[in-house]
Amino acid sequence: MSNDLAFIHRFEPGKRRGAPPLLLLHGTGGNENDLLQLGEMVSPGSALLSPRGKVLEHGMPRFFRRLAEGVFDEDDVRQRANELADFVESARAHYGIGTPVALGYSNGANIAAAMLLLRPQVLAGAILLRAMVPLARPPKADLAGKPVLISSGQRDPIIPASNAAELAAQLTRAGANVRHSVLPTGHELTQTDVTLAKEWMKTALLPEAVTSSD
Ligand code: MLT
Repeated sequence: MSNDLAFIHRFEPGKRRGAPPLLLLHGTGGNENDLLQLGEMVSPGSALLSPRGKVLEHGMPRFFRRLAEGVFDEDDVRQRANELADFVESARAHYGIGTPVALGYSNGANIAAAMLLLRPQVLAGAILLRAMVPLARPPKADLAGKPVLISSGQRDPIIPASNAAELAAQLTRAGANVRHSVLPTGHELTQTDVTLAKEWMKTALLPEAVTSSD
């Protein structure tokens, strides 16, 4: 665990040349350790940058405030997404890594989606596991060709299918290259998510988009 940038975080250096760095974003009640193993499974040898969300909800870390389940404090979403984007830029300079691909689950996927819409240049792409619309009226973003995988659960009790579909539509309208898979499962992750994300990493990402350091 490291404290010397604006978020408590873990950083694991990359072990495979050309492997894109991953920005790991945990779900509600998680922390910076949660997704390290998933990151290694999805993209073996990638550098892993894993911050802990700063908002506490009854002691559980999150990346932004919500007013109720599925009802977000959108001013806070904007502020926290920008703060996280600033952290990613500082951490990239500090650790000398390229533009990361976000790998987020639930609340972590939602802040990743907000970052895509508010600060698109900070991410090379994103894997959004059980994500929903973070901003009802997003700014006009230019996501031209940015690869995004959304993996939703057909029986997710937290995220209505229409909401996940609307997120896919928002990102597509902004120009992202979106793949939206709906799996026969709920809010929890399954082995299929891992396989899907791993395959997507191999095929959807153009190496030049994620290895440059600008
Ligand atoms: C959220 O951001 O609140 C999620 O969609 C649900 C959760 O994290 O539990």
